[in-house]
Amino acid sequence: MSLRASNPALRADNSTLEDLALVMPKNCESKEGTLHLAGVDLFKLAKELGTALYVYDEDMIESNILRYKQGLESKLPSAQVCYASKAFICKDLLKMLARHGLYLDVCGGAEIYMAQLTGFPTENLVFHGNNKTPQEIREAIDAGVGKFVVDTKEELDRISEAAYEMGVNQKVLLRITPGIVADTHSFIQTGSEDSKFGFTIAHDTAKDAVAHALSLPHLKLMGFHMHIGSQIFNLEGYSQAISVMVDFIKDIYEQMDYLPEEFDVGGGLGIAYTVHDKPTSIEQFCDYIGDELLKGFNEAGLELPKIYIEPGRSIIGNAGITLYSVGSVKEIPGVRTYVNVDGGMSDNIRTALYGAEYEGVIVNKADELRSELVTVAGKHCESGDVLIVDGSLQEAEVGDVLAIFATGAYCESMSSNYNMQTRPAVVFVRVGSYHTVKRRETYKDLLAREL
Ligand code: LLP
Repeated sequence: MSLRASNPALRADNSTLEDLALVMPKNCESKEGTLHLAGVDLFKLAKELGTALYVYDEDMIESNILRYKQGLESKLPSAQVCYASKAFICKDLLKMLARHGLYLDVCGGAEIYMAQLTGFPTENLVFHGNNKTPQEIREAIDAGVGKFVVDTKEELDRISEAAYEMGVNQKVLLRITPGIVADTHSFIQTGSEDSKFGFTIAHDTAKDAVAHALSLPHLKLMGFHMHIGSQIFNLEGYSQAISVMVDFIKDIYEQMDYLPEEFDVGGGLGIAYTVHDKPTSIEQFCDYIGDELLKGFNEAGLELPKIYIEPGRSIIGNAGITLYSVGSVKEIPGVRTYVNVDGGMSDNIRTALYGAEYEGVIVNKADELRSELVTVAGKHCESGDVLIVDGSLQEAEVGDVLAIFATGAYCESMSSNYNMQTRPAVVFVRVGSYHTVKRRETYKDLLAREL
């Protein structure tokens, strides 16, 4: 891949730190020209712990959790928040989630294993995935996972069989694809008809799945699940999907006399990555979903089931930043200026994969205007290894520390060892002190699987 030459009409935005408030962690501020997070000097932190480095504002994560819980109180007081662990997970976060009574969306055997090890109540785990392996199914049942969200008939059979052999009754939800195209990148739309996820309503596929689930021994069908996509700004898609689901639930009730006890509306609320993004707030989202659900079930004359929501990104995304050291600056006159950093697509694949956009600042020049138009490139052997394309930044020099904002979700969790890169450490910061929640990988770690 080669990047499109910078449009000569593009200019740096000359913005200040204040202009970036929407994308930064809540407790980020400049002190004497250096960026601090929750009172911790990020330049010193980078020098002490090395870069690349993921840093999280612990207080902001907790406050986002509380915002969801409080946001649901007025319209959906019995609704349950189920954090999507795929966005980012570590033991400390699991403990925080458990403290606040959140459920956990897990999507693989290792996530269940980690939750178990941390003492997370396994009855509050919701096991997702469109092709769970037979081994994962048994491990999950053995661990006492509360619910499976099931996408295929084959899986219904597998769970029923395993539950029979293991002598348990397993609760399940059926994932239904409402046939809605959410307003987001096509890679992260999941509710449309053409999707590997869930049972489509067309051709009675979902209805047949309900009949099948109800006929199988050792399964308890608790209700339905939908998830229309991720990084969604326009909430219209939720309204459409809820309306389709309510019609479906009414049909099922009328034809099969089955009423769901539970309805999980998935996650997907978007966050601000750039100063131009205008996401819906957590409070507005909760209100909107509440109104749509109450209206939909009320008009259909149906009792509202227990509601679950599954946010990931909107809890963790803006709370995290990544720190890098600037190793070199390559100016190509008339083309672009590359700022080369000591990380890249191995710690943040989102720019290469989705064309994601980010904002950054030079930590040690936080009070200066972002007066340069640059492309921040990683250290991997690919031209597509970029983190920010044509972004505004203070004038970068070797030895500067760069912070990229809003990297808390789907960066560490999607990180890789490409070029045998050791994955960065993860640090939680709160009121003036930090603690490392994951250490940096070592060369030895990378060789640990070699026989
Ligand atoms: N529930 C289910 C069933 C999901 O598949 C997901 C995300 C969520 C909840 C949480 O969605 P959130 O609230 O975080 O949007 N790697 C992509 C995002 C993939 C999302 C996958 N599923 C990215 O970096 O943008």
